[in-house]
Amino acid sequence: MTNNQKLNTWVKQVAQMCEPDSIHWCTGSDEEYSQMCELLVKHGTFIKLNSEKKPNSFYCRSQASDVARVEDKTFICSEKNIDAGPTNNWKDPKEMKNILTGLFKGCMKGRTMYVIPYSMGPLGSKISYIGVEITDSLYVVVNMRIMTRMGRKALDVLGNGDFVPCLHSVGMPLKTGVSDVSWPSNNEHKYIVHFPEDKSIWSYGSGYGGNALLGKKCFALRIASIMARNEGWLAEHMLIIGITSPAGIKKYFAAAFPSASGKTNLAMLKSSLPGWKVECVGDDIAWLKFGEDGRLYAINPEAGFFGVAPGTSYSTNEYAMETLKSNSIFTNVALTPDYDIWWEGMTEEKPAKLTDWLGKEWTPASGTNAAHPNARFTTPARQCPVIDPDWEDPIGVPISAMIFGGRRASVIPLVFQAFNWQHGTFLGSTLSSETTAAAAGEVGKVRRDPFAMLPFSGYNMGDYFSHWLTIGKSAAPEKLPKIFYVNWFRKNPQGKFLWPGYGENMRVLKWIFERVTGSENAVETPIGYMPDVSHLDVGGLNISISDLTEILKINKDEWLKEIEGIKEFYKIFGDRLPMGLNNELVALENRLMKSTL
Ligand code: GTP
Ligand code: SPV
Ligand code: MN
Repeated sequence: MTNNQKLNTWVKQVAQMCEPDSIHWCTGSDEEYSQMCELLVKHGTFIKLNSEKKPNSFYCRSQASDVARVEDKTFICSEKNIDAGPTNNWKDPKEMKNILTGLFKGCMKGRTMYVIPYSMGPLGSKISYIGVEITDSLYVVVNMRIMTRMGRKALDVLGNGDFVPCLHSVGMPLKTGVSDVSWPSNNEHKYIVHFPEDKSIWSYGSGYGGNALLGKKCFALRIASIMARNEGWLAEHMLIIGITSPAGIKKYFAAAFPSASGKTNLAMLKSSLPGWKVECVGDDIAWLKFGEDGRLYAINPEAGFFGVAPGTSYSTNEYAMETLKSNSIFTNVALTPDYDIWWEGMTEEKPAKLTDWLGKEWTPASGTNAAHPNARFTTPARQCPVIDPDWEDPIGVPISAMIFGGRRASVIPLVFQAFNWQHGTFLGSTLSSETTAAAAGEVGKVRRDPFAMLPFSGYNMGDYFSHWLTIGKSAAPEKLPKIFYVNWFRKNPQGKFLWPGYGENMRVLKWIFERVTGSENAVETPIGYMPDVSHLDVGGLNISISDLTEILKINKDEWLKEIEGIKEFYKIFGDRLPMGLNNELVALENRLMKSTL
């Protein structure tokens, strides 16, 4: 199917190991996609949605035990343990390959093995890379068709070049006596494994999202972060947006928030301020490289959105709702009697009757979630009504600001700006957030999630911090993006959000925009530059002065406690923690101690 020796050899080896019934090389054509979706319907994996309400779209329920990323089963198997670092799971690569080879032996019996060549980034762009995923899951194939540029065209771009091999199996061979199920997976064994030295990925046992669509977190973040460190660029868990002011000036921002914490919302923000416009380049991942002018340029390596469904509505994210109206796949949402979809938060009034994500009859009296909290839509980015005209520009878009944000009910104010790149790197390294349903485990627990990359750095997080500092030294300070920290999630003592969020976040973006275009509207505080109430455009906003004062407040005692938490966190990095960050921590403590806050 190709002249690429490495690819042919690999496909042959995998087929020998996995023993599929047949091999299918994906072309990526429309006909192929339609046939595959039909097959998934025949198989019971997909339910075709009402063509009038959601044309060419499908509904899918996973197994109840396979609904999110599995961080405790995710491994970075570098030759040396220290290169995976204290925040990743590690196993000796030889030992891990032994385990995996055992599991993959005969794992595709009775199934078809699909070969998916795909490009992360626009086809042929110098910033893009080719991956090839082998999978026995048709669900993965059709999702990859939306999320990446895949098939024949990617194979043509690959030519005789190199690619990242990504091997995936649901881990449920159809041996004699085993009959297939609508969502095959393996309850006993799940492994999401990365081998940094040979840049390969092996994923076993799960069919869901980031565990199985290997171009996304496994390649575009974990493996790409390693490539980025080696080659002097950045692979980040960031959305990318273009912001146009009423005067017609346009700036691009990139922003990192932990999983299920507002990237898709911010990426498609509908401005509450007249004259201001936000356009979307990407909603989850950014690859940033230096351009010839010494500035950082970003591309979105993906072609689709794999977005959190619950909470998405015409009032919170109108443009996402418009994007997903057709040609989309919905996983673990609820089904209406007329074959449309619903999830918590989509409408104020709950439908009288639904089939929930587990396939059970549901009414508002059921008292359960009709959609799983991590239910997702897969939808083509090009359908987004506010997709940026330059979203596929192979050169990328120049970034003027980088924003970090987490879910913090207290301590962190609405917005502040780093003094410089090193201080901004410090802020990124200290990012913390309440956990969400995007990963299996406890929800709502505050954890450090540096750069929103805790589950996604492919190497030692201490070295990752150093890499950020190195990037800052590779360009003149005025060429580098300015760095900001935001928190939409601060609450009052009654547990209510102090800031209205969503479209109103435009007011914060406006302040950031003004700061990167030379405005002096800020006060210097121990934690960074901050707006005071007069610097923020709050005209027409329904918020009390006391709430506004509260979300812009720095509480000295809370911050000193925060510093203790950062010190504890920093300890785990030992001598891999760059000196620059420790200096920033000490400087922050000194500034706070001296301040009259
Ligand atoms: P991944 O796709 O998992 O990487 O996540 P994401 O960061 O793209 O998540 P998304 O934008 O889908 O976040 C959804 C969650 O964030 C929902 O619970 C929203 O209600 C919440 N959210 C987003 N923006 C805001 C905001 O401005 N204020 C508040 N309070 N919640 C928000
Ligand atoms: C995330 O968890 O950050 C996601 C969803 O973007 S997944 O693709 O499942 O990782
Ligand atoms: Mn994500």
